[in-house]
Amino acid sequence: MSMMRICFSSLCIWVVIIALNSCAFAVDVSHDGRALKIDGQRRIILSGAIHYPRSTTHMWPDLIKKAKGGGLDAIETYIFWNAHEPVRRQYDFNGNLDFIRFIKTVQNEGLYVFLRIGPYACAEWNYGGFPVWLHNLPGIQLRTANDVFMKEMQNFTTLIVDMVKQEKLFASQGGPIILAQIENEYGNIMGPYGAGGKAYINWCANMADSLSIGVPWIMCQQPDAPQPMINTCNGFYCHEFQPNNPNSPKMWTENWLGWFKAWGNKHPYRPAEDVAFGVARFFQNGGTFNNYYMYHGGTNFGRTSGGPYITTTYDYDAPLNEYGSLNQPKYGHLKELHDALHSIEKILTYGNISTIDFGNSVNGTVYSYNGNSSCFFSNENSTSDATIHYKGVDYKIPAWSVSILPDCKKEVYNTAKVNTQTSVMVKKSDNGENEPISLEWRWRPEELDTTVVYGKGHVSATQLLDQKVMNDVSDYLWYMTSVDLKKNDIMWSHNMSLRVNGTGHILHAYINGKYVGSKWGGYDSVDNVYETNVKLKHGKNQISLLSATVGLQNYGARFDLVRTGLAGPVEIIGRRGDDTLIKDLSTHKWWYQSGLRGFDDHLFKFKSTSTWRWDELPINRRMTWYKASFKAPLGEEPVVLDLIGLGKGMAWVNGHSLGRYWASYIAGKGNCSESEQPCDYRGKYSAEKCVSGCGKPSQRWYHVPRSFLVEEENEVVLFEEFGGNPTLAGFRREVVGSVCGTAYENRTMELSCSPGRTISAIGFAAFGDARGSCGSFRKGACTSQNDALPVVQECVGKEKCRIVAAESVFGSRDCEEGIWKRLVVEALC
Ligand code: GAL
Repeated sequence: MSMMRICFSSLCIWVVIIALNSCAFAVDVSHDGRALKIDGQRRIILSGAIHYPRSTTHMWPDLIKKAKGGGLDAIETYIFWNAHEPVRRQYDFNGNLDFIRFIKTVQNEGLYVFLRIGPYACAEWNYGGFPVWLHNLPGIQLRTANDVFMKEMQNFTTLIVDMVKQEKLFASQGGPIILAQIENEYGNIMGPYGAGGKAYINWCANMADSLSIGVPWIMCQQPDAPQPMINTCNGFYCHEFQPNNPNSPKMWTENWLGWFKAWGNKHPYRPAEDVAFGVARFFQNGGTFNNYYMYHGGTNFGRTSGGPYITTTYDYDAPLNEYGSLNQPKYGHLKELHDALHSIEKILTYGNISTIDFGNSVNGTVYSYNGNSSCFFSNENSTSDATIHYKGVDYKIPAWSVSILPDCKKEVYNTAKVNTQTSVMVKKSDNGENEPISLEWRWRPEELDTTVVYGKGHVSATQLLDQKVMNDVSDYLWYMTSVDLKKNDIMWSHNMSLRVNGTGHILHAYINGKYVGSKWGGYDSVDNVYETNVKLKHGKNQISLLSATVGLQNYGARFDLVRTGLAGPVEIIGRRGDDTLIKDLSTHKWWYQSGLRGFDDHLFKFKSTSTWRWDELPINRRMTWYKASFKAPLGEEPVVLDLIGLGKGMAWVNGHSLGRYWASYIAGKGNCSESEQPCDYRGKYSAEKCVSGCGKPSQRWYHVPRSFLVEEENEVVLFEEFGGNPTLAGFRREVVGSVCGTAYENRTMELSCSPGRTISAIGFAAFGDARGSCGSFRKGACTSQNDALPVVQECVGKEKCRIVAAESVFGSRDCEEGIWKRLVVEALC
């Protein structure tokens, strides 16, 4: 509330102004067995995950605006404990870790917030969100009834809740937060924790409850969640889920509308038709709360990616892509679904429900309220379309689809009929699509002598240490020892090898200052033994092994205990005929050095004063730093760094970490569904079902948020661990290259390129039974040669155009019985 003085000549009066923003009024959030209730009214809530540290403060308002435009009511985020408390009791809530600012940004857009405090998150985030120092606290056991752990968890959870309360952000205080979460999917893995697990989950519930936040708490995937915790469902589909209490509404807290990616893996995607099918089935079956995981996946900047081996991109095939652009048609197709669901919110949340079995997995659900009814008709067959007869009318329901009829008469939405354009995104340099602007690189070697020649470290132990004991301050840890070959041993030296068991995520081996080889695995391939022939000399031999982590484990029962770094044994093996000599070095005195020199010297810092070499640029040189200056690409479109040709390492722009890169990790061949033969959305989805990018780098492009760039000279720094060719690297902008539209008969097609850019030509247009998909459309039997004309007239030269898919526009069509006539267009931007 504030006071203002208004003066009319000599007379002044004080006027009390009541702040009319939403903070002023407490909102009551409760629930019954049907739905969440806001101020006593049952509500349909459509929510989407946007993890604040996976984008920048500068991106937040636009992402949230777009989420609202996509028909969402709420934004969900986890809280990322290890980002906020990297060192025990030292907190960081700056920049994109300012979650309070994030929540307020959501509030300003008029959306609700679903806050998943955890503080275990999973989320393909490093160590599932746990600070690694937790692991090193004496007597601790994570995620079970253990006093040391529970004290830390309670301390952090209380801190977060208090920060939120301080800012009055819970709905009970007039803020946007309507729901909170404690723990995460503990039910999936609690078996091995036995009685301790059960006690822990009860403790979590009591602890959360005692924080008195005034809005409901949920526990996801927790079938034994104690009241008043609401247990909720996570998965690709949740229509069959039933909560464990009649007073809990049916809530879907993670609707996986895509999937994450790992280095060496193909690009997973999930067709919009199938996501929509899952959502519509859920609401048909009485669901009232749906949260997309993810609505914007974003980027794992710095060392935040989990794993092991999770990529830097966390695009997730979400409706907003990694850079924040609309991922069409997914964004638009779901928006239409949201509009349809919102239009019948009252009937869905208050109506009586009756079901009709049409046979052969075709089902109807009728919601009736106050004399009105709304219908869902679903066909769960994965290949056969169905025609049903309801109240004297025939309705065609395509295979694996749901139709929504808000008045039980007219279908306004069918999950299989996509009316939104597909946008094909391309990466352009300011020189055009195929000509990146080349960069002038300087370089420096990583200084290795101290470790590989002299074996000097800062800590020693007579055992192989788990890399986590170093508190995860760096990906890199040197393990260094020496081995003395006596006269007697020399006779073995003709056939000797070094064998390392448990190779960390990446191992580089050096003997007597010389590199001997490397080894790494992948997300699905845990190959743990490295063996290579070595030449050792008489006397002292220096063995220096560099272990590099690529994101710490984030999921599974006791995932926190999975060993990181070199597990051992480390052995020298000599072979002569059938005889073998094994020298186990595991209990030798090992020296440890955490990190690399270049990191300690801050070579990645913007305008660092260190000296860089301009002489001949080394290509394919291991352990090398590169640096170049560049001008920011023009305009406002998202910027990416193309690292094709590079191996593996880390990249920075103006001192901001873009994350790890590994452009040389190529996805396997086979099972890819590209535009020639798109993945069939019909039938049950799994993370392996629809993939693209066979034989290509798992990640070639690295997001450079616009806010990292400055107007004058910018700097890019690479640390190249494996060896690569930086001369191929360059900056590009992401733009819409072409758009494809599909509109079923009598619907309107809308096409548009990036804002400010016009449609330059029509590549393909046909009305009738055209086949194929975006990028490979073909004419059908009842399309006409002249179909492009009306589209050219309506669209070319325009930023946006609309055209009705009707015979009145394209002329009459004599198509075969049973064909759903549609207009398809491919337009170039
Ligand atoms: C769930 C988990 C999420 C995320 C997801 C996969 O099990 O709760 O945090 O990891 O899997 O992307």
